[in-house]
Amino acid sequence: MTSALTKDPSGGSWTAFWGGPHRIYVNEVHLRAHYAEIARDVAALVGRETRVLLDFGCGDALAAPEIAGLGIDVLLYDAAGPVRDRLAKRFTGTPGIRVLAPAEWDALRSGTVDVILVNSVVQYLTREALAGLLPRFRALLSVRGCLVVADVIPPGASLIGDIAALLRPALRHGFLMVALRGLVATYFSDYRRLRSELGLTSYRADEMVALLGRHGFAASRLVKNIGFNRSRMTFVATVAR
Ligand SMILES: C[S@@+](CC[C@H](N)C(=O)[O-])C[C@H]1O[C@@H](n2cnc3c(N)ncnc32)[C@H](O)[C@@H]1O
Repeated sequence: MTSALTKDPSGGSWTAFWGGPHRIYVNEVHLRAHYAEIARDVAALVGRETRVLLDFGCGDALAAPEIAGLGIDVLLYDAAGPVRDRLAKRFTGTPGIRVLAPAEWDALRSGTVDVILVNSVVQYLTREALAGLLPRFRALLSVRGCLVVADVIPPGASLIGDIAALLRPALRHGFLMVALRGLVATYFSDYRRLRSELGLTSYRADEMVALLGRHGFAASRLVKNIGFNRSRMTFVATVAR
């Protein structure tokens, strides 16, 4: 299947940003701490019956080995070509992890995925693009499957939450000075420019639940977001039958 789904619904620039040499993670320790937190949260979320997890917009996906270690087949898909190239180098031959090319993402069969994780992605998609993806996610899910939409930004979220999300692992892992320099670098970076030019898509909690409901999901918000950012939101949605 080829379709608008393989086009870059975010309009290109955000995907180009994530594919390029950005400095959102201030160092390797930060990058690893970010994914270790995701791995912990996802491991707590998935049931023992989970066989296949699709990480949509997976980025560097350093949580994948830990999830695969639970006996789950992890499918990784990211719209940014350079990200997929990095993933292919990192994970080719790793048991339980498969990096999907766009044609393979298009060819995934209905009803074959138990958990779809969409972490820190929907803010980079237009509302129309997310609405366009939801029927595809719904079709991919197995009977008892669930969609996890995480790190969703509520309207009016201040930068304080983002700063705290960086400083929390920095304090825990001892890279506070590097993190503070990273904040200054981000202030002068493409990220800030794109954020003010393109904006980030935000959703109220009730709006996200209603959107998911319109697409045939029964959704609720979790108490704690996946990852370090406490001011963002995670929703778990099952197919309403
Ligand atoms: C903030 S990163 C999040 C990466 C990872 N999920 C995480 O939690 O660290 C956003 C990722 O979404 C990817 N992305 C953006 N739009 C996408 C789309 N339409 N389809 C698939 N991936 C997309 C970007 O390329 C980028 O790697």
